[in-house]
Amino acid sequence: MSPDARRARPAPDQPPAFADARSKRAKVRAAGMDPDYWYPVAYESELPRGKTLATRFWGHPIVVYRGTDGSLHALADRCAHRQLKLSGGEVNGCHLTCTYHGWTYDGDGKVVHYAHDLFGRAQPEVKVPSYPVTSRHGLIWVFPGNPEQAGTRAIPGIPELSGDRPWARLDASYTWRAHHSMIIDNVSDFTHAYLHRRFRPFWDAKLTRLELIDDRVELSYDTFIGAGRFNCFIDRRKVDTTSIELAFDYPYQRSDTAGSIKSWCFVLPLDRRTTRTFFIFYFDMLKIPGTRRSLPRRLMPLFMRVAGALAIWPLLREDGAAVESEQLGYEIHHTAPIVELNPAVGLFQDLTIRKWEEFLDRDRARTRPSSIAAADGRIPPHR
Ligand code: FES
Ligand SMILES: [Fe+2]
Repeated sequence: MSPDARRARPAPDQPPAFADARSKRAKVRAAGMDPDYWYPVAYESELPRGKTLATRFWGHPIVVYRGTDGSLHALADRCAHRQLKLSGGEVNGCHLTCTYHGWTYDGDGKVVHYAHDLFGRAQPEVKVPSYPVTSRHGLIWVFPGNPEQAGTRAIPGIPELSGDRPWARLDASYTWRAHHSMIIDNVSDFTHAYLHRRFRPFWDAKLTRLELIDDRVELSYDTFIGAGRFNCFIDRRKVDTTSIELAFDYPYQRSDTAGSIKSWCFVLPLDRRTTRTFFIFYFDMLKIPGTRRSLPRRLMPLFMRVAGALAIWPLLREDGAAVESEQLGYEIHHTAPIVELNPAVGLFQDLTIRKWEEFLDRDRARTRPSSIAAADGRIPPHR
């Protein structure tokens, strides 16, 4: 075996890359997410005017910056000159200037100014990839795939959060050291009620429906929703909390309890073992704890923060600890067999694998394959 081939092979104790994976489990834990969708990368509040924000999609560095006029731009986070991170640069107007030799990029990734002598040459035509970027629901969304596809994909609408009578909203975001598929498994697999036995967000769940429809897995449970600490905020005379509907609506996950308590979970696959999650929970009504009275809408944001601190953020941290531990377990024991009981998990994993294979097939057919497929979710040695 040539030294190059030896170097390309994963170490024997490393989980296999997608191309080398044989089992469904190894495939799903190595699969990326189809970049031809919109992915949230940060809250709008994380990126003030004139600032940059470094993120990644499946190991591929992206800089998002906000011009001094408020406009958003997203470029590959790599100066075309000596590969410095552009996120370390400076925003001037709608342009981004690399900190080293002062090459200035416009929002399309084209170098429009060189801050040094060009040695008698004409100004070279230099460009780095740029990505469609927009904002919605208080989040910044990037389309990391083929930009021509961006117009064909929609960011999920959440009509309940706008209009005259917006629902109360609670946000939560975490960066977990776990593969995105473990998080998708976690949020819709209600067999893990035991983990949350202190908070009881759901209890005694029985799967009553499971269906794959195109790129969406829909499922329902009969279960008792919102017991434990959240109990005092829910008016059970008005909201039927005995069942829940969920969907892995690729690549997003959502839930709906009686049309009154809803959530979205958006994942950003940073690399093979790191995922940022963005949860949005929203509630049509809450009651004043200790009474039978509905909470006035103007007080709901305040109570949402209390409910978050008491009942939602702590349980999400339990999920985070569990999936991080699962990731660690997978990396150590990836050759050992596992037992999976919930049929919904099998469908989530089939969908994740199929969507990644479809993307790889599309990408191979392109004249210039994307660097996201080539990166294979690699963890860069230097962050
Ligand atoms: S490395 Fe960016 S301008 Fe030279
Ligand atoms: Fe959970």
